[in-house]
Amino acid sequence: MLAGKRIVLGVTGGIAAYKAVEVCRRLVDAGAHVVPVMTAGAEHFIGRTTLSALASEPVQTSLWDEASPIPHTRLGQSADLVLVVPATARLLAAYAAGLSTDLLTNTLLATRAPVIVCPAMHTEMWEHPAVQANVATLRARGVHIVEPESGRLAGGDVGAGRLAAPERIVEAVARVLDAGPLAGLHVVVSAGGTREPIDAVRVIANRSSGKQGYAIAAEAAARGARVSLVTTVDLPVPAGAQVHAVETAAQMQEAIEQLAASADIIVMAAAVADFRPVAAAAGKLKKDQGTPQIVLEPTPDILAGLGERKRPGQVLVGFAAETSDLLANAAAKLTRKHLDLIVANDVSAPGVGFQHDTNAVTLLRADGSVRTIPLADKRSIAQAVLDTVDDIRGT
Ligand code: CTP
Repeated sequence: MLAGKRIVLGVTGGIAAYKAVEVCRRLVDAGAHVVPVMTAGAEHFIGRTTLSALASEPVQTSLWDEASPIPHTRLGQSADLVLVVPATARLLAAYAAGLSTDLLTNTLLATRAPVIVCPAMHTEMWEHPAVQANVATLRARGVHIVEPESGRLAGGDVGAGRLAAPERIVEAVARVLDAGPLAGLHVVVSAGGTREPIDAVRVIANRSSGKQGYAIAAEAAARGARVSLVTTVDLPVPAGAQVHAVETAAQMQEAIEQLAASADIIVMAAAVADFRPVAAAAGKLKKDQGTPQIVLEPTPDILAGLGERKRPGQVLVGFAAETSDLLANAAAKLTRKHLDLIVANDVSAPGVGFQHDTNAVTLLRADGSVRTIPLADKRSIAQAVLDTVDDIRGT
């Protein structure tokens, strides 16, 4: 996946430095040529020998290590990408200020290659306005930030600041280098349940959490796609996805139809309301006005519309949430909406569908083939869906 890519891996002095070793191993396994650079601080946490043994070259730490008089520019100039794992508050500050104090900061200033920094530090430090300002400065300059996660930190504290998981970091590298299997493709995913207004404060909603759609968006981005996520819910944005927030079926239709024009793959994971109030009351309905009579009308079927206007080569994926006759109902929707694939789930089964972190699905393809995925976390289901989409595209 990363064959022939030259990646400078900068390691700075934080407890998460040991995880840089795992990132290094994964990059080398993916075919990259990894050039390791450690700061003096990093040497307090991991040994040079460990990183040298796993990387493609011995570790460099100093501007004066080499015979070459100008290693500080050479490393940055020859890199396809510079990656810093972990990035301490000090490294972020030096880089944001343009301060070149060691080989790594020199390399960062001397490169025109894309740069990814993966901050890791205690919550108080991560949330400090100075650190956040430095991150904002770097981001505004086009530096890619792999945000830290929340979790257990050194010393037993719990909070934001833990280094992102090594697989997330490697995914970010693949994404930035446009190297994943979906590189160059535009994937549109819808997620969450629509909310149709009854009056100024009330809506008709459904139990969809959006988690399955977000998992598909995250997996597509991890595979290198440009991802547009049209969503009604406010979950953490998957790295690499562009969010389009909507609320109603009509808003979702407008957003999706615009994006569909350039989409290679469309996955309608959203639970779109089938009916909406004909007109929302202007203010708040009051009890003393009597029991309201809410008249409903059908919403447009977004997916069926996309099926009618599908471009050659575009892959269209729908969902079918059923409580009975799962396969027959799903197969009928597959045909009626001109889909390539439908993901059917029996939402009455335990642990399946709405709100859960797990799902169990049957994938039905237009060519009649059927694949069943037993109960698994939603990211694994997303992988199965995108593997099947790959098959359909013939890749
Ligand atoms: N869908 C859509 N627009 C709608 C309703 C549904 O795009 N107005 C999409 C959903 O995102 C999902 C698929 O169609 O991918 C299946 O939706 P569903 O409501 O289950 O199918 P229907 O054809 O409406 O059938 P029924 O409600 O009778 O089960």
